[in-house]
Amino acid sequence: MKAMVQRWFSLGLLLSGGALVACGNPAVDVRIAELPEEDPNVPVGEFHRPGQPCVLCHSSYGGDAPVMSIAGTIYAVKGLVPNPEPAEGEPTRIAPPPVGDVSVLMYDAFGRRSPPVATNCVGNFYLTKEQWDPVFPVYAEIEFTPPEGTQSLRAAMATWIQREGSCNTCHNGDANQGSVGRIYCMEKMPDPPFDPPTKANCNGVP
Ligand code: HEC
Ligand code: HEC
Repeated sequence: MKAMVQRWFSLGLLLSGGALVACGNPAVDVRIAELPEEDPNVPVGEFHRPGQPCVLCHSSYGGDAPVMSIAGTIYAVKGLVPNPEPAEGEPTRIAPPPVGDVSVLMYDAFGRRSPPVATNCVGNFYLTKEQWDPVFPVYAEIEFTPPEGTQSLRAAMATWIQREGSCNTCHNGDANQGSVGRIYCMEKMPDPPFDPPTKANCNGVP
């Protein structure tokens, strides 16, 4: 009898262990499986997977370290920009360049301010849960100093983020029925245009 109980017990462990590896949440598994593949030319780390919902994986469910509270990606302008040299079969308009050094300022439901955080050269930023563990809803704004500008620009989200830690879950690529569009710094490309990062000045460029 005792042995029987034990056997069931270990089977239970085995099952829950397996479920943990697979996140224990089928909805999250499906969303992770649908994401574009890791770019083999970008090191796995702060520069990888720009535009993707970071916290989906970097969470206790997703299981990838570090566990993040908030993360996202920020781009230069609203909408698509002309592709300077479209190769055969390539689109004539492409995603805008990402922008580094954009500060992201947030407050949580208790009015606690986020620690200073800014985007890297592929536009990614993140705060680990250890750095900031906000109580939702969270207020967010961004601040950016244009290349030629003297005055910094600020844009705030009018509504508060209810509980989604990944900015990119809502700000997912082009604006359409499923997305509010990328988080951007300027309505239009300045003149001279904002240069995309290059392999020479940014480790995250493939
Ligand atoms: C599909 C899942 C997935 C997504 C989406 C994802 N990551 Fe990761 N990330 C990983 C994995 C797996 C690792 C490697 C973890 C390890 O080594 O334990 C990693 C590692 C990292 C690390 C390095 C941690 C270290 O200790 O060196 C950082 C930083 C990071 N990711 C940032 C991001 C950011 C920012 C985003 C969103 C723009 C993002 N990740 C999106 C899965 C993901
Ligand atoms: C739950 C979905 C959702 C999440 C998550 C989210 N946003 Fe938003 N965001 C919106 C919506 C919807 C709008 C437009 C309405 C508004 O401003 O509230 C918006 C607007 C904005 C704007 C203003 C854009 C403009 O044109 O003025 C900024 C800046 C912004 N978000 C930044 C962020 C940042 C930074 C994060 C992550 C910390 C984030 N958002 C996370 C849905 C989201």
